[in-house]
Amino acid sequence: MFDPLAELVQLIARWVHLIAGIMWIGNSMLWNWIDRNLETPKSGPRKGLVGEIWMVHSGGFYQMEKLALSPSQLPENLHWFKWQNFTTWASGISLMVLVYYMSAASMMVDPEIAAISANTAIGISAASLPAAWILYDIVWRTKIGKSVTLATLLTLGIVIGASAVYFNFFSGRAAYMHVGILMGTIMTGNVWFVIMPSQRELIAATKEGREQDPAVGYQAKQRSIHNNYFTFPLLFIMLSGHFPSTFGHPKSWVILLVLCSAGAFVRHGMNMRFTNKMWFWPTSFVAFGAASFTLVMMSDKDMLSPSQKRTTPVEFAEVAEIIHNRCTECHSTTPTNAGYKVAPNGIMFDSADLIVRHAPKIEERAVKSKSMPLANQTNMTQAERETLRAWIDQGAKGP
Ligand code: HEC
Repeated sequence: MFDPLAELVQLIARWVHLIAGIMWIGNSMLWNWIDRNLETPKSGPRKGLVGEIWMVHSGGFYQMEKLALSPSQLPENLHWFKWQNFTTWASGISLMVLVYYMSAASMMVDPEIAAISANTAIGISAASLPAAWILYDIVWRTKIGKSVTLATLLTLGIVIGASAVYFNFFSGRAAYMHVGILMGTIMTGNVWFVIMPSQRELIAATKEGREQDPAVGYQAKQRSIHNNYFTFPLLFIMLSGHFPSTFGHPKSWVILLVLCSAGAFVRHGMNMRFTNKMWFWPTSFVAFGAASFTLVMMSDKDMLSPSQKRTTPVEFAEVAEIIHNRCTECHSTTPTNAGYKVAPNGIMFDSADLIVRHAPKIEERAVKSKSMPLANQTNMTQAERETLRAWIDQGAKGP
């Protein structure tokens, strides 16, 4: 049933998620930038002064100093930046429940990938997220974390291992989104269980007039670097839902791997550019290479369809019948599917004219990416997809 209340709740959750996400990532990028651009003060060194920076913004000059404080200097009012992160994560988890868990049979399960029940899919999702965080935290909190190379490899192993589970059990779109949710969950765990405790310890140490425990500060720095590298891959995944050519590709995991690695690498280039301007070139090269590779992957028709192509002429009546049988129960002015009272995304195939007009979209969703019919609820066959492909290749003509 189409439920206006559920629709409104989803709309608001998405809106909040986007606003909080912009605030969180925006803040963290600004702080990163500030930290990397601090200058040694022109007025000469002063006790406790780490660096300073001048900025101009919104009608005023701003001077900021990074300080190590003595106990008497600790101000009454200190601003923290933690709720932006929490709100992003909490609204994201709500969206996961609203969009994926509540329609798990169609949004998470793809019978062509794994014939699992909706509850199994939800179980895998709900168990994997805390498990991944716990494993990751153990790696970096214990002695293993002392060897940064080993710990980094293990972290990649955890993310890739969990992704392999998602790709083997979930629909392409749900698998993509879960890799993103997993990264976001690790990032949030880092903020709340490592970075914030370190800030509390810094304040306590300052109050007591002692040095901050260096181990605590070191851990926090490490985790915030991890978050820094997760940012760009995570943001790509959050956008990927609009690009069925990525998550709907038969090799969707390759596209994910390439674009996420490129995103992290570009982030690295941005981190390095203040100390070494040469980083601009390798970064641009990798970004360009990844984009070209993805473009080739997305447009390689034979790769997208290993099955035999149909070469005989296709009559429009044949196409109309396929669309009528497989699509219009949802995509119609009067859908008959129990889940949709209005046509999803406003796409309708009620007339020959509409079918012809939407031919490019039909190709994208039902031929190339097979992300339609949703979870193949209407049992579309590969032969029917090939008929649509042939019709489109022959010019997508009407009756
Ligand atoms: C069970 C219901 C259902 C059936 C059957 C179904 N769709 Fe969809 N369709 C959806 C939903 C829900 C969305 C929106 C979510 C999304 O984009 O994945 C959608 C989105 C689309 C879009 C994206 C529109 C846009 O904004 O770009 C296209 C195109 C599409 N469907 C085509 C088809 C075709 C072609 C068929 C038949 C082969 C089909 N659908 C069958 C439910 C369905």
